[in-house]
Amino acid sequence: MICLAEISREELMRQKDFINKIFDLNARSGKKPLAFVETYGCAQNFSDSEKISGMLSDMGFDFCARRNDADLIIFNTCAVRENAEMRVYGNIGAVKTLKRRKPGLLLGVCGCMMQQNGVAEKIKKRYPYVDMVFGTHALYRFPEILSGAMEKRRVFDTENSDGAIAEDISCRRDKPPLAKIPVMYGCNNFCTYCIVPYVRGRERSRKIENILSEVKNVASEGYREVMLLGQNVNSYGNDLDCGTGFAELLSRVCRIDGIERVRFMTSHPKDISDELIEVMAREPKICKQLHLPVQCGSDRILAKMNRKYTKEKYLEIVRRVREKMPDIVLTTDIIVGFPGETNEDFAETLDILKKVRYDTIFSFIYSKRAGTPAAEMEDCLTEEEKHRNFDEMIKVQNEISKEINDKYLGRTEKVLVEGESKNDPAYMCGRTDGGKIVNFKGDKSLVGKMVSVCITKTQTWSLGGEIREV
Ligand code: SAH
Ligand code: SF4
Ligand code: F3S
Repeated sequence: MICLAEISREELMRQKDFINKIFDLNARSGKKPLAFVETYGCAQNFSDSEKISGMLSDMGFDFCARRNDADLIIFNTCAVRENAEMRVYGNIGAVKTLKRRKPGLLLGVCGCMMQQNGVAEKIKKRYPYVDMVFGTHALYRFPEILSGAMEKRRVFDTENSDGAIAEDISCRRDKPPLAKIPVMYGCNNFCTYCIVPYVRGRERSRKIENILSEVKNVASEGYREVMLLGQNVNSYGNDLDCGTGFAELLSRVCRIDGIERVRFMTSHPKDISDELIEVMAREPKICKQLHLPVQCGSDRILAKMNRKYTKEKYLEIVRRVREKMPDIVLTTDIIVGFPGETNEDFAETLDILKKVRYDTIFSFIYSKRAGTPAAEMEDCLTEEEKHRNFDEMIKVQNEISKEINDKYLGRTEKVLVEGESKNDPAYMCGRTDGGKIVNFKGDKSLVGKMVSVCITKTQTWSLGGEIREV
């Protein structure tokens, strides 16, 4: 059993010195510079961006909502699929004209893409106006990196270590009620299509006392819901020698006063234990929602993906979960067009969607990732066939999602209000215990409150309703 180190106090103090230095420089300039942080990818990256913004805030920066107004632009990138990468290159390209107009503008590119072989080199050569490039393992060194860039040095910091954990970094979160708390970093699973273990390193769990103290802090700041984050939260604690697993962590988080809802993401099916199902069913604070990526329904493809379960085994987990929590909201991820997937394999995926009847799926067409085993595997379907299958799957799932949502009509749901609805500021938006989005008429004073909403309208992706009581 190994227990990976945390970044030392001394090193964090060294970074603090850079923070103070930049703060003084900004204070002397008489005007707070504006930062714009744009984030791609998953919740882990969004959580990292909250830390980047926290450090920027400590360094005396304010924030703006448009790239054009910024004195500092940071792109926090994702490498999971090619289209995510293309968007990043497009956006780096677009900053060139901005930099011409505003020579003092600083541009930093960070995150998962920067840990990929060759990417930092490519940026160095093709985009000479990028001032800073740093990977996921260098996040805590951002103050030092920015200090270098402010002294007109180009800084490249993409060292590929498994990254000891840096605790106590400032965090600028979204406003209450929801706080995202990472409980572990990295992944050991090496699904053959996936780049994440290469760019995020091996699994490292945070110490339970650090997680609990962060949850206590956010509770005291008025957050009422926490989302515990990790690429595979069910293996939380496997690398610690204290014997605490994820089920135990969940029940201890539930004991913290002020926190009313606890969610988590993501769970690998192979690691769903009876203990976890028990604790979810027992603890009223744990939301009855489970994101359980299946990826596909064919045993042959699941084996090639290195997912370590079969379709039958997966269905058995779903049965166990539903036996204890009949109303649980289940969601999943699906990849269409993995190398070697035939139309018969795809039919198995449709079959599992019909058998499980997920509330929602997140679906992707396979994207080749250099350096992963699947990149070397033979393909058989054409792009056109893959798109046809993808469209068919969406059609099948949309019907299922709508049928499930229709059952909510007339029900009264407890909704934790998160903010204004995206489309209409006269409407507010929040989530049910199961994580379903509900829009209803109301005003900003409701943000952070738990309200009862009677569902009067259903759509494929969301519900609409009328507020009953606050
Ligand atoms: N750790 C999580 C999520 C990883 S990334 C998990 O294991 O579920 C989120 C999703 O992106 C994955 O579940 C998978 O469906 C998808 N994904 C990962 N690599 C991909 C690739 N190369 N092409 C297409 N989709 C991919
Ligand atoms: Fe990628 Fe698989 Fe790890 Fe998820 S579990 S991050 S899909 S390797
Ligand atoms: Fe993307 Fe990195 Fe998350 S590759 S999906 S941002 S861990």
